[in-house]
Amino acid sequence: METLQDRIICREDFPFLAQSKIAYLDNAATTQIPSTVLSAVEAYYRNGAANPGRGEYGLNLQVTQLYEQARERIAAFVGANAEEIAFTAGTTEGLNTIAQAYAAKMLGPGDEVLVTAAEHHSNFLIWQHACKQAGARLIISPFDANGRLDWDAFKASVSAKTKIVALAHVSNVLGTVFPIEDVVELSHEYGAKVVLDCAQSIGHLPLNLHALGVDFAAFSGHKMYALSGIGAMYIKQDLIADTSAFMLGGGMVDEVWESQSSYLDNIRKLEAGTPNVVGAISMAAAADYLDGIGLNSIHNHEKELTGYLLGCFSEIPDCKVHGIPGNANDRTGIVSFSVKGVHPTDVALALDEAGVCIRTGTHCAQPLHRRLGVEQSCRISLGLYNTFDDLQKAARTLSGIRESLGRRILGMFP
Ligand code: ALA
Repeated sequence: METLQDRIICREDFPFLAQSKIAYLDNAATTQIPSTVLSAVEAYYRNGAANPGRGEYGLNLQVTQLYEQARERIAAFVGANAEEIAFTAGTTEGLNTIAQAYAAKMLGPGDEVLVTAAEHHSNFLIWQHACKQAGARLIISPFDANGRLDWDAFKASVSAKTKIVALAHVSNVLGTVFPIEDVVELSHEYGAKVVLDCAQSIGHLPLNLHALGVDFAAFSGHKMYALSGIGAMYIKQDLIADTSAFMLGGGMVDEVWESQSSYLDNIRKLEAGTPNVVGAISMAAAADYLDGIGLNSIHNHEKELTGYLLGCFSEIPDCKVHGIPGNANDRTGIVSFSVKGVHPTDVALALDEAGVCIRTGTHCAQPLHRRLGVEQSCRISLGLYNTFDDLQKAARTLSGIRESLGRRILGMFP
């Protein structure tokens, strides 16, 4: 079976992975960085740093140009216009800004915000808070036993009272890809705006925000093989005027007087303070790297691996996969599971000993875990550089985990 690994040796593109034997399976938390991104970061500092838009000397104009080119590159990468993209510190900052700078002032008593039960805390707390501020109601739409959105329940929850529908493109726990086009069509019928959390789709699925038709979106650099501390948010062109400046400071003003001030009327009004230029450059370089491979190839590769992983799980006794068991369609390479009788921390430690990195806990999704009926779970999440070998390593350890932990406990307490 030909894989991405056969076509290009991706692991070799990542300095950390090239010199380590680790099976890094925690890509939903953060991704490793390819050398092309590291080189772009180094080149920026070697060629001279400046504070964009704040000087008329040549170096400053060059850096301003680099920063604006990065905006254009990221816009092209996600199917948007540059004037609809603002850089942020990451998905969380983007979603908070959208909630406070647009949604909060649109909400009033009796209005409703609809989210799914599978949201990351970043796309849940902000709506809980905004609803409390406005006297609005937060509706939480359930998922079915297979981890898919319960469409009938979702449909029944949308009405003229719904002002915002906020959901993840991909669940960071179940890996489910939610039916965004259908959600947008239904929400827009009732005049509701759609906010999309793309933290787990960026770098894994081809993303075209204009084609999806969403009104707002946010994503992070460190989930797409770029630096951490940088991200971007998308605001549909005709909603920018209704989105207020949120953080105030240099770079977002028009005129400042002692008694009053005015702000820019474009998306830059949301970029107060010195921008993270090197972060933006790293995102643009990561977009080049990913487009060089092709998001369809990456998605297919991860899908193939996910199918293989789900097959392994079906043969490991006492392992239960949460959501869409046994099917790699409609999901990405995020697979959460529990091992009967073994605490997730013990699972992670046993895997770590075998050179496999996974995440355990609630993955910033406590309401979802309550609905799943588990306190915590273990999570494997794939990236483009993962291989069948990585998964075999994990599967081998998981197959014998109850036996080996039992032996150790017996050894300690004979
Ligand atoms: N959002 C990241 C995760 O799901 C941190 O692990």
